[in-house]
Amino acid sequence: MRRRHLPAQTGAGSEREPDEAEAWAEQPPLVECRDLACTFGTGEAAVVAVHGVSLQVWPGDQIGVMGPSGSGKSTLLHLLGGLRPATAGTVGWPGLGGHPLGVPGRIGFIFQGPSLVPSLDVVENVTLPLLMADADPAEAIRRARAALDAVGIGTLAARVPDELSGGQAQRVAVARALVCQPRLLLADEPTGQLDHAAADVVMTSLLDARARLGAALVVSTHDPLIADRLSGRWVMRDGAVTGTSSPAERVAR
Ligand SMILES: Nc1ncnc2c1ncn2[C@@H]1O[C@H](COP(=O)(O)OP(=O)(O)OP(=O)(O)O)[C@@H](O)[C@H]1O
Ligand SMILES: [Mg+2]
Repeated sequence: MRRRHLPAQTGAGSEREPDEAEAWAEQPPLVECRDLACTFGTGEAAVVAVHGVSLQVWPGDQIGVMGPSGSGKSTLLHLLGGLRPATAGTVGWPGLGGHPLGVPGRIGFIFQGPSLVPSLDVVENVTLPLLMADADPAEAIRRARAALDAVGIGTLAARVPDELSGGQAQRVAVARALVCQPRLLLADEPTGQLDHAAADVVMTSLLDARARLGAALVVSTHDPLIADRLSGRWVMRDGAVTGTSSPAERVAR
């Protein structure tokens, strides 16, 4: 059977070597876009959701994307994740080996709002990205259980989404995004429906995973406390990125 390459699994407690931060500087950007735009509809009904966005995401980056409702945060994350085609400009993934749909497992995406399949239990939901990448089913279950353990909800494996709290469901979505050990994590308001305590747990899971995997993390949020946990910032308004501050790690390189 044809198998696509999945990244090798990293031990749950493994830490990056200190000099790997320097090694990141040698690598190409994970995502690079130039004058990127996305328009929905045509003619008088056209909505320009994103326009004129030129930026990069580098290995190890951690970026909070902020901006009012409708400013284009979700659309931008979908474009960066290859989930939606650009209508103008370019987006490429030089550090990820090509379009994410052609190289499954390199990007983990957490969607805004509920995204679990209601008829599947928790562990089955988390196996989905592995099975879509042609992983062996028994191996997929083993890795899904490990991903659930890593975000502290291994005991919920047999529940269905209806039996979960909002915070637990979001942690399942985090586990599903992490199960292929991605190089880039795109999280679209992962804490939007949660109270502060649950939001904190989800953010800690994401930041821990970023450190463990050496991944880049881009999180859209309306919550300044969430954004403050990330060292870089993109500010969006009316479809444009109107301000950026580089992650502290990148400035230090
Ligand atoms: N599938 C779609 N069809 C038509 N218009 C869309 C579609 N998706 C988004 N839009 C429009 O594009 C613009 C940007 O939407 P987007 O969801 O990216 O904003 P957002 O910043 O994520 O908002 P929120 O903070 O509410 O999640 C909005 O005007 C929205 O109505
Ligand atoms: Mg959104």
